[in-house]
Amino acid sequence: MDFYRACYRSKIRWDKISMPLPDEIDRTLLRIRRINRKAGVTGALLLVDHHIVQVLEGQPGQVLDTVYCVMNDPRLENIEGIIHEPAESRMFPNSLMFFRDLTDGVAASRHEVLRPLLDHPGEVTREEAYGAFNHFATELQEGRLTNDMLMI
Ligand SMILES: Cc1cc2nc3c(=O)[nH]c(=O)nc-3n(C[C@H](O)[C@H](O)[C@H](O)COP(=O)(O)O)c2cc1C
Repeated sequence: MDFYRACYRSKIRWDKISMPLPDEIDRTLLRIRRINRKAGVTGALLLVDHHIVQVLEGQPGQVLDTVYCVMNDPRLENIEGIIHEPAESRMFPNSLMFFRDLTDGVAASRHEVLRPLLDHPGEVTREEAYGAFNHFATELQEGRLTNDMLMI
């Protein structure tokens, strides 16, 4: 089966966020996992300070439609594309939207591959994004992260 993978970084528009951040995150994840289930889209979302980095994967049309939805979300601005390419398989086959908050720097202090997402004033490269997402994909495969992060 041919898949498509899109990954982007985007700035959070705090002025468009009305609820306390944990509530906003919970509500958004609930909503997007419901939409992604219908669309057959899986992926991962990392919160990093004032940015989010997200990878989306699935059928090409569904992934592109999802990117379009994200681009029209008023809570995000300055969307920078990092990866846009066909993929042979999914990195997050069981995650309707895996989520981690890296803001406190704890995970990044333990895992070098996560650091470029934190202290990167410039653009995140394709290799850096793959390094970070592969880290979580491997931990999930090896069962080191629990299912409550998958919310499936
Ligand atoms: C950080 C972030 C991640 C998002 N991820 C997805 C996603 O994975 N799938 C999706 O369909 N929409 C995604 N969106 C878009 C919004 O969920 C969508 O625009 C919003 O739910 C609009 O639908 P509603 O007004 O009907 O709730 C994302 C939005 C934000 C802010």
